[in-house]
Amino acid sequence: MTTHRPLEGRVAFVTGATSGLGQRFAVILAEAGARVVISGRRQERLAALADEISANGGTAVPLILDVTDPAAVQAAVAEAEARVGPLWLLVNNSGVSATGPAETMSEGDYDFVMDTNVKGAYFMAQAAGRAMLPRKEGRIINVASLLGVRVLGQLSLYAMSKAAVIQMTKALALEWARHGINVNAICPGYIETEMNSDYFRSDNGQAFMKRFPRRRIGQPEDLDGMMLTLADPASRFTTGAIISVDDGQQFM
Ligand SMILES: NC(=O)c1ccc[n+]([C@@H]2O[C@H](COP(=O)([O-])OP(=O)(O)OC[C@H]3O[C@@H](n4cnc5c(N)ncnc54)[C@H](OP(=O)(O)O)[C@@H]3O)[C@@H](O)[C@H]2O)c1
Repeated sequence: MTTHRPLEGRVAFVTGATSGLGQRFAVILAEAGARVVISGRRQERLAALADEISANGGTAVPLILDVTDPAAVQAAVAEAEARVGPLWLLVNNSGVSATGPAETMSEGDYDFVMDTNVKGAYFMAQAAGRAMLPRKEGRIINVASLLGVRVLGQLSLYAMSKAAVIQMTKALALEWARHGINVNAICPGYIETEMNSDYFRSDNGQAFMKRFPRRRIGQPEDLDGMMLTLADPASRFTTGAIISVDDGQQFM
């Protein structure tokens, strides 16, 4: 438990908080003093996380939300503000992947990845931005990926979607700079979560990991430092930054 609580009294909205990185972000933002709105589609997981955060002395409000529905996204931000107060931070974290050779990807695969990673992230950012603009302050942290800046085989749709998140970050940072909203992106390297744990336990996954400069994958807590830095009100001069947190995997 951190003793530094720079987010005391502030509200953070985390999408995709039902597992992996989003779950960890919610926990550490709450430890840093934020009241957290935790969202995702799996109700039981949201309830369990809210209980865990409360047991630790924090405040967490669970909101069921599918980010692919722009009207639901707009309503969720309004509901979050009505229940816990003005949003200081959006962590735009929900994401999915589709793996396979480009020549086999279907329209359904395309829509699945783009609807969640691009459309979902864009309308989440828009809804948060609309709420923050009149107040002239706020933070948006987009969770992009190593694959937004480089490519690897069989992940074309995912790489395209994360490149879009990176350009979205820069575009919104530019438009909203004069309104006091900072928009940044984290590009994580491979972190062990439900998205990839089966793969990294397989022989192929173990062989792939050996190509990484440090021959290891990360754990969700390896992103704590960058998340807390970007969320901190003291980071007011950082906007439009695309920050790799990948243990050097961009150089594999
Ligand atoms: N793990 C890595 O190595 C890695 C590396 C770079 C970037 N990332 C990015 O980090 C983010 C989190 O990934 P993760 O590794 O933590 O994966 P994960 O464990 O599979 O979690 C993905 C989260 O996204 C949520 N989600 C998926 N579709 C959604 C939808 N339509 N509406 C709302 N929420 C939705 C899921 O919640 P529900 O199913 O409950 O809705 C879940 O909480 C993603 O954007 C991913 O691309 C991960």
